[in-house]
Amino acid sequence: MEDFEFYTPTKVIFGKNAELQIGREIASRGYKKVLVHFGGTYLRETGEIDKIHRSLEDAGLTYVDLGGVVPNPRLSLAKEGVDLCKKEGVDFILGVGGGSAIDSSKAIAYGLVNDFPLEDLFLGKEKTDKIAPIGCITTIAATGSETSNSTVVTIETQDQGILKRSYNHDCARPLFAAMNPELTYTLPVYQTASGAADIMMHTMERYITQAKNVELSDRISEGLLVTVREAALKALTDPRDYEARANLMWAGSLSHNGLTGTGRINDFPVHKIGHELSAMFDATHGASLTATWSAWAKVVYKSNPARFARFAVKVFGVEMNFDDMEKTALAGIEAWDEWCRKIGMPTSITDLLGKTPSEAQMEEMAEKAAATGGGTIGLFHRLTKEDLVDIYKKAL
Ligand code: NZQ
Ligand code: ZN
Repeated sequence: MEDFEFYTPTKVIFGKNAELQIGREIASRGYKKVLVHFGGTYLRETGEIDKIHRSLEDAGLTYVDLGGVVPNPRLSLAKEGVDLCKKEGVDFILGVGGGSAIDSSKAIAYGLVNDFPLEDLFLGKEKTDKIAPIGCITTIAATGSETSNSTVVTIETQDQGILKRSYNHDCARPLFAAMNPELTYTLPVYQTASGAADIMMHTMERYITQAKNVELSDRISEGLLVTVREAALKALTDPRDYEARANLMWAGSLSHNGLTGTGRINDFPVHKIGHELSAMFDATHGASLTATWSAWAKVVYKSNPARFARFAVKVFGVEMNFDDMEKTALAGIEAWDEWCRKIGMPTSITDLLGKTPSEAQMEEMAEKAAATGGGTIGLFHRLTKEDLVDIYKKAL
């Protein structure tokens, strides 16, 4: 087991009506004026935004709204948010929504207390451990941004086109996360499925490593993966299945707060491959991962067939073939694709986009993904730009 630090300070307020407690949470910490930051229309249509406003008013807080966050959130809106917060004297940022709204809130919070141009943080030119206080209300079980240290944004650059980049620091873990599984009842089927796939992937990217002697982390991971595998199917069959929604939601946080990675070192190669598809084609995050995982897996599994075989047996109930470990590994990869198809997620890039990217586009994505690791990515199996082109092609 590798040495590690595990820091998850976020207070989780979980269950029915959890979102009504946020006014009290913010006021008790001494803040006065809140930016409520969210995406599109569903919060207004469901009346949820009014309840959130009331919770703030009842606690004696004032607020200003900033909607308009889109999936794969744009840094340009976060910059507008920084200006708005300065103008309005905001001292607390509340993100309401999924990973996009929460990450956009984190970006605003960075911008509010740091003097450098915000894009420099995401382009690797600046570092900081300073952020304005943030809390969140989660409305989709997916990224785990509500407890993660990560902020992922899409930047429109002059010289490199559109880039999807992240900045990771423990200071970005929200002070609290209000998580009411009932809020996820209104999710479109595609978002429920994409979120479930993302939760699986956050643990799979940590689980499929070369780390040794991590039995506890392995077993926690396997329990989480089996739970999400089953709960996703239940939530898709009955969108108002509270227990399935609750399991998905809690798994979303536990899958990306660092727990399943304790004792091993990870670098999330499939996320890097998927992020390029989201940057170039605005692909939905979870779906970009299901479209490419098995192509990646088939390229790398021979580096440690036993690891993939254990995944097959423990997560998908594949029977171990002791004479041919590679066969078991491949059966697990196929079982994953089959589960993705069952929940309606794409298992190829052509399925994902409804078209095939050009050679030049695959070259560009591979080049950019490799550059995020200084030329190669992947600790389980090192991947060069050429390997990445091969993966994009195999994923077609
Ligand atoms: O636009 P709104 O109205 O908010 O609608 C959203 C959006 O269209 C909708 N939605 C959310 N909750 C709903 C709902 N619709 C009806 N009822 C509800 N209860 O769902 C759509 C998708 O929302 P989004 O926030 O984009 O989804 P998700 O949570 O999957 O977030 C994806 C973003 O997070 C990043 C992704 O790359 C992507 O940009 N990630 C963030 C991570 C982190 N910060 O730790 C880690 C992840 O690996 C990921 O990279
Ligand atoms: Zn993810």
